[in-house]
Amino acid sequence: MDLPFEPYRIKVVERIQRVSREERQAQLHAAGYNVFKVPSEAIYVDLLTDSGTSAMSDRQWAAMMTGDEAYAYSKSFAEFERNIRDIFGYRHVIPTHQGRAAESLLFAAAVTPEHVVPNNIHFDTTRANVEHRGAIALDCVCDEGLDAQLVAPFKGDMSLDKLAAAFTKYGLERIPFVMITVTNNSGGGQPVSMANIKQVSAYCSERGVPLIFDACRFAENAWFIQQREKGYADRTVKEIAQEMFSLGDGCTMSAKKDALVNIGGFLCLNDGDLALEVTNDLILHEGFPTYGGMAGRDLAAVAQGLEEVMDEEYLAYRIGQVKRLGDRLESLGVPCLQPIGGHAVYVDAARVLPHIPQSEFPAQVFTAALYLEGGVRGVEIGSLMFEHLDPDTGATVHPALELVRLAVPRRVYTHTQLDYVAETCARVAELGPRLRGLEIVWEPPSLRHFTAKLQPVGGGAMVAEA
Ligand code: F0G
Repeated sequence: MDLPFEPYRIKVVERIQRVSREERQAQLHAAGYNVFKVPSEAIYVDLLTDSGTSAMSDRQWAAMMTGDEAYAYSKSFAEFERNIRDIFGYRHVIPTHQGRAAESLLFAAAVTPEHVVPNNIHFDTTRANVEHRGAIALDCVCDEGLDAQLVAPFKGDMSLDKLAAAFTKYGLERIPFVMITVTNNSGGGQPVSMANIKQVSAYCSERGVPLIFDACRFAENAWFIQQREKGYADRTVKEIAQEMFSLGDGCTMSAKKDALVNIGGFLCLNDGDLALEVTNDLILHEGFPTYGGMAGRDLAAVAQGLEEVMDEEYLAYRIGQVKRLGDRLESLGVPCLQPIGGHAVYVDAARVLPHIPQSEFPAQVFTAALYLEGGVRGVEIGSLMFEHLDPDTGATVHPALELVRLAVPRRVYTHTQLDYVAETCARVAELGPRLRGLEIVWEPPSLRHFTAKLQPVGGGAMVAEA
């Protein structure tokens, strides 16, 4: 049997339900064809995100019960700091309530309107946080990372040429630091190789520019390095993670991913002056430096989760389960970004719905139809999320890819439920040209994909009569 085996058994279950097609139709309409607004009780399999949706282990729940709620220097902070230092190795560990709070604190202290921040691909909140400072968020992923069908081991790698071009164009003084996102979420959950991290690290240190990791899915990235990169097969995931972080100067981390918790995050820095400035801001916005927006019990659950996530049997099952979903989709004729990423499968909506132009949001149409057909929630990663204006010309720029991300929560769904997801996607693909494009009827000034309201272009039903 080639099933990815679960290295655990289930101790607590949560009832979920399937609602009727009529109800789903009504929910979708009321939500303005934006599944972020559909209530979770009306969803059967929720693959909106792998963030904060993990099932915690018995040991994490036990750690929560013994969490120390002291305001300052709690025992739980000591464990949190110790475990983070052990893996990440940075001098200053600053807890935050989630990843974007770490980003916002770092950028408030280090990014000004003249700045440009290169990354392989900025995640949407990271981009928004950079732009909120008036700065430019620049994506420098290698060209392979923009080709949805190309099979290559490390499509999250940063292009050294694009990075060098950014330094030439903007000048050293405008680049406060360089970021690398592991794995590259917005580019398909693709890993970054150690070789690439070493090159970027050397490039940055020659110029005295810090390298900061967006570390959300570091264990998954380290697992891919172990499996795919020459020279790492005999190294443990933990050793690989340690080596990776030793090549940088700090990280932002959403503990809601690879720390297997429902809330939490942290910022790590080697630079003491910057850490001090950030900590002062932290006290104003998040809390005292030893809890930063989290309860003591949350710190304890993160400390435990960081140990569990590097269990290689867990990672083989985890990444195997995601791959199995992708392989089933491909076998049912639904094209997915290749190779399958660590935390999610990305359906190539541009290929499924070639009749819908990017201006009519093909990936959002697929996402809405997936809910309508089977109560499955995914998320659009295409023009609704990433369309923007060129900072130089002011022209509308559509993203290179129109994807629907099916993010798999950690330790939550069974193979049966994911088979159901694959079959529902296949039904959506079969609708093909019967699916109509969407248009925006209302949008907020930024991060519009969370709250925008849409309707089928010109009104009427999204699925045309057969
Ligand atoms: N960086 C990356 C690469 C992310 O994927 C996320 C969140 C963040 C930063 C921000 O972390 O949510 O704790 O504030 N990604 C989630 C997702 C929301 O669905 O991919 P946060």
